[in-house]
Amino acid sequence: MKASADHHVLVTGGAGFIGSHTVDVLMARGCRVLVVDDLSTGYMANLARWRDHPRLTVLKADITDDLAGHLKHATASMGPLDRIIHFAAQTAVPLSVDDPANDIRVNLGGTAQVLEYARRNGIAKIVFASSSAVYDDDAPVPVSEASLARPASPYGISKLSGEFYLDYYSRYFGLKFTALRFMNVYGPRQDPKSHYSGVISIFMDRAVTGAPITIFDDGEQTRDFVFVTDVAQAVVGACLDNRGDGEIINIGTGLEVSVNLIARTILELAQSNSPITYAPARVGDIRRSVTTMDKATRSLGFVPQVKLREGLDQTLAWVRAEAVSVSSSV
Ligand SMILES: NC(=O)c1ccc[n+]([C@@H]2O[C@H](COP(=O)([O-])OP(=O)(O)OC[C@H]3O[C@@H](n4cnc5c(N)ncnc54)[C@H](O)[C@@H]3O)[C@@H](O)[C@H]2O)c1
Repeated sequence: MKASADHHVLVTGGAGFIGSHTVDVLMARGCRVLVVDDLSTGYMANLARWRDHPRLTVLKADITDDLAGHLKHATASMGPLDRIIHFAAQTAVPLSVDDPANDIRVNLGGTAQVLEYARRNGIAKIVFASSSAVYDDDAPVPVSEASLARPASPYGISKLSGEFYLDYYSRYFGLKFTALRFMNVYGPRQDPKSHYSGVISIFMDRAVTGAPITIFDDGEQTRDFVFVTDVAQAVVGACLDNRGDGEIINIGTGLEVSVNLIARTILELAQSNSPITYAPARVGDIRRSVTTMDKATRSLGFVPQVKLREGLDQTLAWVRAEAVSVSSSV
């Protein structure tokens, strides 16, 4: 088995929220890393701590646009890649409902380019960022990987289709893969200003600025919130340590938390008086979401390290620091 330092890993979407935390783990393990990101929702600032590091290359490019051509140039100087972590995607459920064709173009079209590159270039393993959005409300709660995957949105369909592509490339071309179905990931660097954002970063941003917090539906819908550094460790374990080969695995905490409870806890932590308002439920949002942990524990040795309150504290500290840096740069 290669030492981590011998790996050269392509991270698509590596300037994004989960991608940049994953780059942090790969860099800390001594890998060479090539990030391909079009910066549509990601930021170079997310990779600032590695700026000018000789083991990191960042390529601003769209994965749906001649990925192989872009990578040919980059690998000519940096050497061949041997692993891929594929995050780059259109990530907003509501946008996929409004524009399914674009969701297909980026999520399926992009994944097809990544997989073809992997097949033609002898990539040893690919880890794919799938989503709990592959399950709908009919799946029993807590949801396990054996539950029926029947997505309630075009975004969920594109993620599930990506998994089928992985299975096909594995069976017919021997490409090793792990697909990780993330539950609701939260933490520092999740952009609260974008409509792609997670509920925690949006609520925190509003709590800190005193703006009203809008909850869609009655707030008793539940989610399984998993901290981003735990997710990054699971991804890198699957990528470098050959864990979960050929498997599709839910990544969460196993704890079911209501959106109302999250909003109240954030207001308390931020010592905020932001009012809470309610709006109609959105198409494609499911009512309950929480995962079983058996497969993640068994196949990846995954045990989340960061408890919800601790993760909220860390996220709040980041949201506050961002608010200060934005106001001081205006
Ligand atoms: N955040 C979550 O709770 C969550 C849950 C389930 C699945 N996921 C999946 O995890 C992955 C990462 O999500 P995230 O929350 O970090 O989102 P993000 O928006 O921060 O990251 C996506 C990154 O991909 C880049 N990108 C988008 N389209 C691209 C393209 N065509 N070419 C190159 N780069 C492109 C963006 O600029 C961004 O840096 C996505 O695949 C997402 O669907 C996230």
